[in-house]
Amino acid sequence: MNIARARPEDAPDMASVHAQAFDKPWDENDFEDLLDGEGIFGVLARGEGPAGVVICRTVAGEAEILTVGVAGWARRTGVGRSLMHAAIDLAREAGAQLMFLEVDVANPAAITLYERLGFQRAGLRKAYYDRGVDGLADALVMRLDLTPTAL
Ligand SMILES: CC(C)(COP(=O)(O)OP(=O)(O)OC[C@H]1O[C@@H](n2cnc3c(N)ncnc32)[C@H](O)[C@@H]1OP(=O)(O)O)[C@@H](O)C(=O)NCCC(=O)NCCS
Repeated sequence: MNIARARPEDAPDMASVHAQAFDKPWDENDFEDLLDGEGIFGVLARGEGPAGVVICRTVAGEAEILTVGVAGWARRTGVGRSLMHAAIDLAREAGAQLMFLEVDVANPAAITLYERLGFQRAGLRKAYYDRGVDGLADALVMRLDLTPTAL
């Protein structure tokens, strides 16, 4: 598995893998625009094909994971963990001291991944996700201290 910082020309592969991970995926233009954004970087995993993607934004010493997804065929092989490690390293290089993310309270796979990485539960955003016919779902806010003494 190759894990590398995403370049603008990776947008089609990022959109392709995002569509394999989410019901409401972001398209190629979304990824192009994101990678153009101030303080935003992406990391792409490639195996037989695009396997996983993470997008992160760093602002004023804080990093936020905007999305992370792994294609169904590549799950439980360490791709999500590797993507998150790469994002953590790049965020620290960019000067971030804290990393935040939001996750659906009903997503045990992602919550377990984040907890194993050291993220702690920091709060709850009520009715944050629109699950369509299934109604609104709460988001758990999680945070990771990126300062050298914390890791
Ligand atoms: C969440 C997601 C990114 C995990 O990616 P992954 O590549 O399968 O995760 P990894 O193989 O790196 O797993 C690392 C650890 O996370 C935990 N984990 C991952 N998937 C899990 C699952 N389905 N159930 C329980 N724990 C899980 C385990 O502790 C795992 O370590 P282990 O395999 O040694 O037990 C992936 O399931 C996914 O893309 N889901 C759909 C999109 C999504 O929900 N994204 C997160 C939005 S906040």
